[in-house]
Amino acid sequence: MIENATILTTEKPDIERIRNDFPILQTMVYGHQLVYLDNAATTQKPVQVLDTLEQYYREYNSNVHRGVHHLSQLATETYEHARKKVADFIHAKKTAEIIFTKGTTDGINLVASSFGKKYIKEGDAVVISAMEHHSNIVPWQIICEDRKAVLKVIPINEKGELLMNEYEKILRSFNVKIVAVTYVSNTLGTVNPVEEIIEIAHKNDIPVLLDIAQGIQHLPVNVEELDVDFAVFSGHKIYGPTGIGVLYGKEKWLNEMPPYQGGGDMIKTVTFEKTTYNELPYKFEAGTPDISGAIGLGAALDYVSSIGIPWIEEAEHELLLYALDALSAVKSLRSIGQAENRAASISFLVGNIHPFDMGEILDKQGIAVRTGHHCTQPLMDFYKIPGTVRASLSFYNTKEEIDRLVTCI
Ligand code: ALA
Repeated sequence: MIENATILTTEKPDIERIRNDFPILQTMVYGHQLVYLDNAATTQKPVQVLDTLEQYYREYNSNVHRGVHHLSQLATETYEHARKKVADFIHAKKTAEIIFTKGTTDGINLVASSFGKKYIKEGDAVVISAMEHHSNIVPWQIICEDRKAVLKVIPINEKGELLMNEYEKILRSFNVKIVAVTYVSNTLGTVNPVEEIIEIAHKNDIPVLLDIAQGIQHLPVNVEELDVDFAVFSGHKIYGPTGIGVLYGKEKWLNEMPPYQGGGDMIKTVTFEKTTYNELPYKFEAGTPDISGAIGLGAALDYVSSIGIPWIEEAEHELLLYALDALSAVKSLRSIGQAENRAASISFLVGNIHPFDMGEILDKQGIAVRTGHHCTQPLMDFYKIPGTVRASLSFYNTKEEIDRLVTCI
């Protein structure tokens, strides 16, 4: 098995050392040093991840679970060790509960399709929230249409917080089969009360899927303590490669759910008459997986652990408060979403300036932000706006970078 070269430290992280781990942060854009504030779209990759990916392709590139030869054994062991790193990171009891996917979208589609086919019937309901990303809306719409079920939406207040009374009302009024909500809103940065959401659902014997794509890189996630049924995230938002993601699912659900896709590796035996399926987690991993992606994700989780989620949470919170305060001084800036409990993402509009124009102006100053609807069109409809400018933070950002953003606006 190949171990990653991540250096574990117990010392308090030093921001200069951290920034040196991310070579891309030195990039010049239109003559200005890059200020990367689009971390909710994707995070940059530390050298520890880049080296791990290169090492895989240079030294032991091979398929997994298929060969008796040395390279295949090495690739398999390292791939499976990455699964163990994921399980440890989110505190899952068993590696059988960790399915490698293409990303958050793929994970939600898997659950919606497979859980939906098994458990959702005509007249049932699926519950999501008004601040969901399209990836946690459309897969449920597809299965609801197929099963003749209804999609119910937990509304929000103007600050961008869930109306929990309405949530309870929906659970009382409909035959809800699953609740699927985001931990942290990609657009507003709202941190939802997921413990309470899960507790209320479980009191009604309803399982919960959490979209932790915008939470896992900022806040602690303990699936066992949360007692959540499913959780999904993408590797590229937690400093790992694109194309790899994770579905955590309780074994009791995953064992009962039918396969999502058919192909190699997900089978035990195949005849033209009948196929029997492999055990977990392989039942849900058809075809050659993203081997380098999984191994790279393992390195990313090692890296994040070496810095420490508690420090990340504290540093990012301080930066968020600094940014909110600095932006509030900008004349005619309107903040979209002002939840009490929030993380990392700040959406805003300035005067009558279209978000795209603001995005272009900032880009010319070397500042990368995202503009538009952020794949949350229903949320934009709620606020009656076409889109926002979004600055999303990482622990490698600095107060000087926030000052540059404010000055350029
Ligand atoms: N979901 C990503 C974002 O919010 C792409 O930008």
